[in-house]
Amino acid sequence: MKSSLISSIVLASQVLALPSAPAVRANTAVKYAGVNIAGFDFGMNTTGAQDMSKVYPPLTALGGPDGAGQMSHFVKDDNLNIFRLPVTWQYLSDSNIGTFDTTKVANYDKLVQACLTTGATCIIDIHNYARWNYEIIGQGGPSDASLVQLWTQLATKYKSSTNIAFGVMNEPHDLDITTWGNTVQEVVTAIRTVGATSQMNRHETWLTNVVLLPGTDYTSAGSFNSTSGPALSAVKNLDGSTTNLIFDVHQYLDYDYSGTHTECVTDNIESAWQPLANWLRQVKRQALNTETGGGNTASCEQYLCSAINFMKREMRCGTLIVVSSNTDVFLGYVAWSAGSFDNTYELDLTPTWSGSSWTDTALMKACIAR
Ligand SMILES: *[C@@H]1O[C@H](CO)[C@@H](O)[C@H](O)[C@H]1NC(C)=O
Ligand SMILES: *[C@@H]1O[C@H](CO)[C@@H](O)[C@H](O)[C@H]1NC(C)=O
Repeated sequence: MKSSLISSIVLASQVLALPSAPAVRANTAVKYAGVNIAGFDFGMNTTGAQDMSKVYPPLTALGGPDGAGQMSHFVKDDNLNIFRLPVTWQYLSDSNIGTFDTTKVANYDKLVQACLTTGATCIIDIHNYARWNYEIIGQGGPSDASLVQLWTQLATKYKSSTNIAFGVMNEPHDLDITTWGNTVQEVVTAIRTVGATSQMNRHETWLTNVVLLPGTDYTSAGSFNSTSGPALSAVKNLDGSTTNLIFDVHQYLDYDYSGTHTECVTDNIESAWQPLANWLRQVKRQALNTETGGGNTASCEQYLCSAINFMKREMRCGTLIVVSSNTDVFLGYVAWSAGSFDNTYELDLTPTWSGSSWTDTALMKACIAR
C-alpha cells in the first residue's frame, strides 16, 4: 500500500513540477543528520592493519583539532544531531588483541563524552574492515569470541546512555557473508546480554541502544538488497525481535564509488537507494547511511543534495507542495568527514575556526547542514 502511494506521489510531483519550480530542501525531516568525526582511525587501511603513528585524535587535549568545538558548532549552527566516532580495535587495545587499554579507552571516551554533551546521538564505530592485521575476524583471523569480548566491554561502558549507538564494524569486505552474519549475531547477543537491551518506558517509546549491522562489499547500499541484507536479516535480539537493529549502509558518488575523488557522477538513486528502499519496505526494516560524501565541488553538491533529498523532498508547484518521502525506511545520513581532516583531503568537511566563528565547507553548507 505504502509504496504504491509513494510512487503515485512521486509521479504527481514529476507531472506537476514546472522547470522553474524550486525544490524545497527538506532534509530537516529525516531523523538523523550528521557527520563523521575522524582521527582515532587514521593510519588504518582496508587490510585491517594500522600505522599507529598516524593516529590523530580530534581533541585539543590530545594535541589535535577541536572535534568537541566542531560538534557543538554542527549542532548549534547546522542542526545536525548525530556523529560517528571512528576508532580502531588496535587503538583501544593498544595493539594487544584481547586487552582493553584503559588509557587509550579514556582518550577515546573524551570524544564520546564531548559528543554526548551536545545532546546528539553518538555512534561508536570500530573501523576495522572486519579484520585485524590482514586477517578476517571469524574467518581465519581473530575468533568471534575476541570481537565479542571487545563489544562486551564497550557495551558495558556505554549501555547507560541511549544516545549511544553501537556500530559493530566499519566496511567488512571480501568475506563469506553468511559466516559474517553469525559473527554479527554473536556481537548483538553479547551487547544485549550485558544490558544494552530492549525496554519500554511508560510512553511506550523504545529506549534501547541502536546497533548498526554492517554487510560485506564495504557495506555498500547498492548490493545490500541482494547480498548483505538477506544474511543480516537473520540477526535478532535476545527476545527474537529486531527492534533497533538497523542496517548500516555506505554509498559514495564518484565514478568508482570509492569516495576518494572530488568529482561526483551519480546520486545512486536508481542503482542503490530506490531498490534498497523497496527491499527494506518488503522486509519491514530500516537503514542508516553512515558514510557518504564528496568533494567541495559543484558536481558533488548536485548529486549529494539529490541523494539526501531522496529521503525526503518537497516540490513547490505554485501554491501546492508535493512531498515524497522515504523516511519510513531511511533514518538519515552521516557524511564523511570532519574531525582531524583538513582542506588537503578530498572529502574534507571540517569547519575552520577564525576569530569567533566557524566556517563550513561548501558541501556542508549546500547539502548536509539543515
Ligand atoms: C596498510 O597499513 C599497513 C600498516 O601501516 C601497511 O604496512 C600496509 O602496507 C598497508 N597496506 C595497504 C594495502 O595500504
Ligand atoms: C536488488 O536491486 C536490484 C537493482 O539494483 C534488482 O535488480 C534486484 O532484483 C534486487 N534484488 C532483491 C532481492 O530485491
